[in-house]
Amino acid sequence: MAEGLEDLARTDNCGSLRETDIGRTVTLMGWAANRRDLGGVIFIDLRDREGIVQVVARPEASAEAHRAAERVRLEYVLAVVGDVVARDEETLNLDLKTGKIEILARELHVLSEARTPPFPIEDELVTSEDVRLKYRYLDLRRPRLQRNLRLRHQVCLETRRFMDEQGFIEIETPFLTKSTPEGARDYLVPSRIHNGCFYALPQSPQLFKQLLMMAGFDRYFQIVRCFRDEDLRADRQPEFTQIDIESSFTRPDAIFDLVERLFARVFSVAGVEIERPFPRLSYAEALARYGTDKPDLRFDMPIADVTEEMAALGLLTFPDLIAAGARARAVVLEAASAPSGMRLRKINEDVWLKRIVADARLERRNLFTLRATEEALTNLANKGANVAVARRLLDAAGALKDDVVMLAVDRPAPLAVGMGMLRLAMGSELKLIEESARRFLWVVDFPLFEYDPSEKRNVSLHHPFTAPLDEDIPRLESEPEKVRAKAYDVVLNGSEVGGGSIRIHDAALQARIFRILALSDEEARERFGFFLDALQYGAPPHGGIALGLDRTVMILAGETSIRDVIAFPKTASAVDLMSGSPSTVREEQLRELDLLVVER
Ligand code: AMO
Repeated sequence: MAEGLEDLARTDNCGSLRETDIGRTVTLMGWAANRRDLGGVIFIDLRDREGIVQVVARPEASAEAHRAAERVRLEYVLAVVGDVVARDEETLNLDLKTGKIEILARELHVLSEARTPPFPIEDELVTSEDVRLKYRYLDLRRPRLQRNLRLRHQVCLETRRFMDEQGFIEIETPFLTKSTPEGARDYLVPSRIHNGCFYALPQSPQLFKQLLMMAGFDRYFQIVRCFRDEDLRADRQPEFTQIDIESSFTRPDAIFDLVERLFARVFSVAGVEIERPFPRLSYAEALARYGTDKPDLRFDMPIADVTEEMAALGLLTFPDLIAAGARARAVVLEAASAPSGMRLRKINEDVWLKRIVADARLERRNLFTLRATEEALTNLANKGANVAVARRLLDAAGALKDDVVMLAVDRPAPLAVGMGMLRLAMGSELKLIEESARRFLWVVDFPLFEYDPSEKRNVSLHHPFTAPLDEDIPRLESEPEKVRAKAYDVVLNGSEVGGGSIRIHDAALQARIFRILALSDEEARERFGFFLDALQYGAPPHGGIALGLDRTVMILAGETSIRDVIAFPKTASAVDLMSGSPSTVREEQLRELDLLVVER
C-alpha cells in the first residue's frame, strides 16, 4: 500500500547531510538503495539525486517506523522523518560523504512500492546496454548518469551565460523545414495538408543562421537539436545537439578566440583547465603528420615520410612499388616502450593485417619493422640492403638508438589513413595516451571540394556555402581539387567537436560554386532559391561554427559513449528500445497522409 505525502514536507536532501546537522530532526524523501535487517535493527540506504544517507529503524525508537521498514524492498520510495545522529566509531563509512552520521527514524512512510529492478542501481554495472536502455528511467537513477546529465546542464547554462556576455542572442529556427545540405540523409515528415509534400528535419540550422545574419542580428547562437539519418557510431546519434554560432563582419581568428574562451569557461565548470591558444594545423599537415584530420595530440608519435630512403634501400620489391607511385611512411616506437620482436609480429598479424589493411583499403603487405641497433643493420646488410641508406632512413624517421621503426609502403591516400590508425593503435598498445589530458587543436585550410567517383562530380567537403581562400579563387574552375576553403574544425583528443567556416556572401561567387558542384541553375533555384534571393539584398560578410554538445560533454565527463550523456538516446541502429520507436502507425494516420507502405 502506498501513502500520499499528506503534510510531509522535505527539509533536506539525503546526500547533503553532514556532521554539522547532528541534533536536527529532518524529513527526507528518496529511494531504498539497500536494506539490511540485523536482527531487530533495520538499516536502509536512502538515495536521492544528491547522494545516499543511512536510515536506522530501531523498534525501541519507533515501533511503527520499524514495522514499516520491515516491508521495504529495493527501490521503494520512502519518506522518513528522523533525527540526525552521529554514527558509532565502528560503523563510520568514510567513502560516503554522509558516512559520519545516520538518521534515526521516528516515522517511515512507503510512498510507492517497486517491482524488483532488472539490474542493480549502481555505477559498476555489468548488465548489457540494451537492458539498460529498455529501462532507461532506472538506468538514469545511477549516480554516474545523474552526474553526467547535471554536467550537461551546467555546460548549457555556462554556454548561455558566456554567449550572452559576448553579445550573442539565442534565436530558435524551425524544425519543420526544407532539406539542408550537410551531406547526410534527411529525416522526412509528410505534410497532411499538402498532398505529396514533405518537410525535412534540419541536419543543422545552417541556412537559417546565415539568413539571420542577412536580417541584421549580427551575432546569433542556439543550443539546438539536429537530425541526421546516417550510419551511427559510438560518437554519433541520429538526433544530437549543437552549440550553433554565427557572426557578421567576422574573421576566422575572431571565431577561434571566441570558441577557445567558450571552451575554457565551459571546462572550468568541471574544474578542468585548458591550454590556450589551441595549436593550428593545416589539413595537409594533419594528414601527413598524423594520418587523419582529427589527430589525437595526447601523445606525439608523428608519421614520417621515408619514401626516398625506402626506394634506395634496395630491398624486396619496395623500389618497384615506389617507382609505380607508392610512398613509404613510418612511425617510431621509443626504445623504452618498444615491444619485443614476437609482440611486433603479433601486432602485424592482428592489428595491421586483420584490421587496418581492410579498414584503410591497403594492399595486403606486411609492416616492415627495423630496430635501430647495429645487429639489425648487419642483418639487413646480409639481405642485400644498403646500410648507409638504412641509417639515413632511421634518421629521417627520427629514430634514436634501440628505437623501433614501423613502416609501410602503399598508395599515398590509403597509406596516410592506415598509418594514422597504426599510430593510434600503438599509442594505446604502449599506453602513451595520457587519459586525463584535454588536447585541443584547430585544423584549417580544408579542401573546398572532394571528388565523388560514384556521382562523377565534385561535392563540398563541408557545405556549399563555405567560402574559398581568396588566393585560390582564380583556380576554382581550372584546378578545383587544389582549392582550399576558409573552413576549420576544432578537434579534442582525436574527436571532431566542432566545424565551421567563413561563408560566401556574394551571389555571383555562390552561383559559380553551384556550377562547379554540377548543380544546374534550375536545381539551385529549386533547392535554395530563397537563399540566393536573400544574398542579393545586402548580405554582410559572415561566418560561424557549430560545436557538438554531446561529444564535448562526453569527453568532459570522461565517457567513451555519447549515449552516456544523453537522457534518452537511441541504439546504434537508431532505435529507442524503451518506447519502441520507430514503429508502425495506424492505417488511419497513413490514409490521412495519403501514404502507402510498400512491404520490403
Ligand atoms: P558539422 O556537420 O561539422 O557542421 O557539425 C558540427 C558538429 O556537430 C557534431 N556532430 C554530431 N554529434 C553527434 N552525432 C552526430 N550524428 C553528429 N554530427 C555532427 C560534431 C560536429 O563537429 N552547419 C555546420 C556548422 C557550420 O558550418 O557552422 C555543421 O553542422 O561535433
